[in-house]
Amino acid sequence: MALAEGASAAAISLCSNHFPVSLLGFETALFVRNAGIDLLLLHAPGTEPLSAWEVMLEIREWEEIGDVGVSNFNIQHLQLLKNSPPKWNQIQISPFVQRRELVNYCQRQGIKIVAHSPLVKGQKLDTPRLITMANKCECTPAQLLLAWSVNKGFVTIPRSSKREHLQANLEAKEIILPTEIIQQLNSFEEGYATHPQHY
Ligand SMILES: NC(=O)c1ccc[n+]([C@@H]2O[C@H](COP(=O)([O-])OP(=O)(O)OC[C@H]3O[C@@H](n4cnc5c(N)ncnc54)[C@H](OP(=O)(O)O)[C@@H]3O)[C@@H](O)[C@H]2O)c1
Repeated sequence: MALAEGASAAAISLCSNHFPVSLLGFETALFVRNAGIDLLLLHAPGTEPLSAWEVMLEIREWEEIGDVGVSNFNIQHLQLLKNSPPKWNQIQISPFVQRRELVNYCQRQGIKIVAHSPLVKGQKLDTPRLITMANKCECTPAQLLLAWSVNKGFVTIPRSSKREHLQANLEAKEIILPTEIIQQLNSFEEGYATHPQHY
């Protein structure tokens, strides 16, 4: 389970994609139905993205479910769903892996992007260039990555186990980045994905 903002009118929405639809047996179906989920995502395209999506469309009819979407779908996968496209695609995005072609495609199709692992799982927070820029912006490297993501219009879902990080991450929403900082972050692209199997 993950907490994500923006899936419904609620300020905080419950979002889940941690079970494969192929295993949607009776008990799982009952759990999903009663969990009060605002946005249920198909975790990955798998081998039969279209038939998996058709199951999700059936689930969307349940009044207990707010909406359904997909995760880790690339352009080819999304094209398979063009007759009844999802409104949400959760994919890994950060300045280190920007997925520009996919982002453009989603924006043209009206598919909202949820950016997972926006802090690159903490693996790039010691990048010297990032630290220098964060100091200039009077924020932390983590906040800089989140502010960049929010600036791009992505629903941004960092994870933290620490209260002070959660607080700092929430505050990052308010940071207004100068254009030159956004441009410098745009130049960080290096195809660095923490989940390369979905890239
Ligand atoms: N759809 C998918 O395939 C998929 C795949 C991966 C992840 N996700 C979702 O994406 C969300 C987050 O992804 P993630 O956990 O992979 O990575 P992430 O948010 O990029 O990074 C989490 C790491 O960053 C650290 N961190 C968080 N806030 C920080 C801060 N302010 N300063 C310094 N370090 C900070 C955390 O450590 P502390 O706990 O110490 O703060 C943790 O080690 C989750 O909701 C997850 O479910 C989805």
